[in-house]
Amino acid sequence: MRRKFIAGNWKMNGSLAANAALLSGIQANLGSPNCDVAVCAPAPYLDQCRGALADSAIAWGAQDLSAHESGAYTGEISAAMLTDFDCSYVIAGHSERRAYHGESDELVGRKAARALSAGLRPIVCVGETLEERESGRTEQVVQRQLEAVLKEVADADLVRLVVAYEPVWAIGTGKTATPQMAQEVHAFLRGRLAARHAAAATQIQILYGGSMKPDNAADLLAMEDIDGGLIGGAALKAADFLAIIHAAA
Ligand code: PGA
Repeated sequence: MRRKFIAGNWKMNGSLAANAALLSGIQANLGSPNCDVAVCAPAPYLDQCRGALADSAIAWGAQDLSAHESGAYTGEISAAMLTDFDCSYVIAGHSERRAYHGESDELVGRKAARALSAGLRPIVCVGETLEERESGRTEQVVQRQLEAVLKEVADADLVRLVVAYEPVWAIGTGKTATPQMAQEVHAFLRGRLAARHAAAATQIQILYGGSMKPDNAADLLAMEDIDGGLIGGAALKAADFLAIIHAAA
């Protein structure tokens, strides 16, 4: 049985004061969740997350990492730096990084491999644009994005991979894929994972992301191959994030 996993992606939001209020609000009503929970914070706040969450059921992670190990890469953050702050997770290949920072499939694959080799669990994002969906290329696009990552990952590391299906047209727009639409792509992705390694495919968590909110989370999370959510906007409000966690648990 795969455990559900709810991960918050704070994006470029927050401040010391706002994060403190958000994290204490989440912890106050979390209880003992019957699912995995994490927040992916901007890098300057990872130490704050470590301080606030060390004894909690909530893990923390970053939103990006360098594909390089160390050295003259001004502005970049290495996987080892993230593990220094006890991160468990790091997002790789979010569509905003692909679109605004020119990240290629190949680079995302190398980032995922770098994360795994440092002991981090990469949350690898894949997803089609509206134009790609409307021209019938959804499967082709997510397959290409996934294969570029699988190519870089050893069999033994596959189970530490987390995949997030995030249709670009649903991110931050209030438009959500219907549970059936999302399930179709999740099942397709699981099939591709199974083609690579049947046993690992049954264990890999595949999250849905794109305007998941308290009012649609339960229906999405009820689908067979939807193992959780990568939550943007709704992860910035303690009550909304908690409602999604409780829908999963
Ligand atoms: P959203 O963002 O929930 O605000 O649509 C999800 C994401 O980009 O990870």
